Amino acid sequence: MVQTTPFLLVLLLALGAQSLAVKKCSLTGHWVNDLGSNMTVTAVNKNGDFSGTYHTAVTATSNEIKVSPLQGSQQTGPNQKGQPTFGFTVNWDFSDSITVFTGQCFVDDDGKEVLKTMWLLRSRVENIKNDWKATRVGVNVFTRLPSLE
Ligand code: BTN
Repeated sequence: MVQTTPFLLVLLLALGAQSLAVKKCSLTGHWVNDLGSNMTVTAVNKNGDFSGTYHTAVTATSNEIKVSPLQGSQQTGPNQKGQPTFGFTVNWDFSDSITVFTGQCFVDDDGKEVLKTMWLLRSRVENIKNDWKATRVGVNVFTRLPSLE
């Protein structure tokens, strides 16, 4: 009893500290969005820069979809509080288009990480007269896929 009491005290303190710890949202890993598109973000470096791959489930073209590269940047300022803002560009390998995403990495009420984003998809048009119809806008919500390791 004399020895178990301090042990229990430490255990209770550790459990208490764990439940108080605020979960952070990390961009690194595998994600799926509401359209069924898959994204992998490889490690974010100390400047907040990251790269990865994007496998879209849909396309505005009639081309065969290919996994395409993405390059992004995450805010590393002091006020991010574990829920950082970020942006990334997908340079599509199978079309003449570019998509830019901007968003924030949140931890929701259930403790799950979620990326709330908005995007602009710029398609190539043949001439300036068609510029008005060259840009689409939308939102995507990404949730984390379990890591394969
Ligand atoms: C293209 O059609 O020219 C390239 C593919 C665009 C896919 C768009 S990007 C925004 C939206 N979110 C997705 O996951 N896919 C579509």
